[in-house]
Amino acid sequence: MAFETIIVELEDHVSLIKLNRPDALNALNDQLLGELVVALNEAQENEKVRCIVITGSEKAFAAGADIKMMSDKSFVEMFGSDFFGAESDAIMRIRKPIIAAVSGYALGGGCELAMMCDFIICSDTAKFGQPEINLGVMAGLGGSQRLTRFVGKSKAMDMNLTGRFMDAEEAERSGLVSRVVPAKKLLEEAMSAAQKIAEKSMIATMAVKEAVNRSYEMTLREGLLFERRVFHSLFATEDQKEGMAAFAEKREAQFRDR
Ligand code: HXC
Repeated sequence: MAFETIIVELEDHVSLIKLNRPDALNALNDQLLGELVVALNEAQENEKVRCIVITGSEKAFAAGADIKMMSDKSFVEMFGSDFFGAESDAIMRIRKPIIAAVSGYALGGGCELAMMCDFIICSDTAKFGQPEINLGVMAGLGGSQRLTRFVGKSKAMDMNLTGRFMDAEEAERSGLVSRVVPAKKLLEEAMSAAQKIAEKSMIATMAVKEAVNRSYEMTLREGLLFERRVFHSLFATEDQKEGMAAFAEKREAQFRDR
């Protein structure tokens, strides 16, 4: 499918998806999110793809849902269409690891999209925020839920109630992002992390993604049991035998996703 609001490139085993509505700072509209879901599903289906990176421009990862598109909508339209509910569910169903590479603004739905990814690497210019309060509304795609789990109640309340932005340093300190790098190095760092993930057994990387994400859905006891059972089940794979044999033989493992 030809995309108009995103650019998709395959580099080795990594699908790089660039949000591309520069005139609107990559504001999320139906078309962009629709195309993103198609691209992610294609990456999920494509056997060559082993990891996914979502990025924006240097100025903006995404400045939120498209305010101009939303402004005239009624409650009935928002509720009836479950505004962006299907798209966010579809993103969460992707089983391959997804890295968000964030430079500049990640606001509102943009911050929420970054949080739907498995981890966030950002540039030193990144600014995260849930400024919906300034528009007379509130977060609608995880800004009051995921952000609270990631940075804790006090900061999540602060950001959602005041609408202030969090810079990269604070985002790293708060646990929202895993790494901060100079803006010019952002894509290189994210792609290199993705290539590293792509070298692993994909059964194991998908299992890790599933297990870590379950930790937000389960009690600790159930989560630990889930983790242990998945760990046990990986001993049914050839990749486990190969990985452990390679360690003993002091060589690089050659994983085959079996
Ligand atoms: C539509 C947007 C936009 C948005 C920016 N633009 N953000 N258009 N929706 N969310 C457009 C501007 O209108 C402008 O277009 C162009 O992008 C450049 O933006 P400027 O404001 O001129 O840039 P700047 O002065 O550098 O300010 C950058 C900014 C500001 C601080 C990021 O644009 C801003 O505050 N944007 C809105 C952020 C926000 O409130 N996000 C939350 C949205 S609600 P023109 O045509 O005028 O040049 C949301 C809900 C999610 O996300 C939940 C869904 C279920």
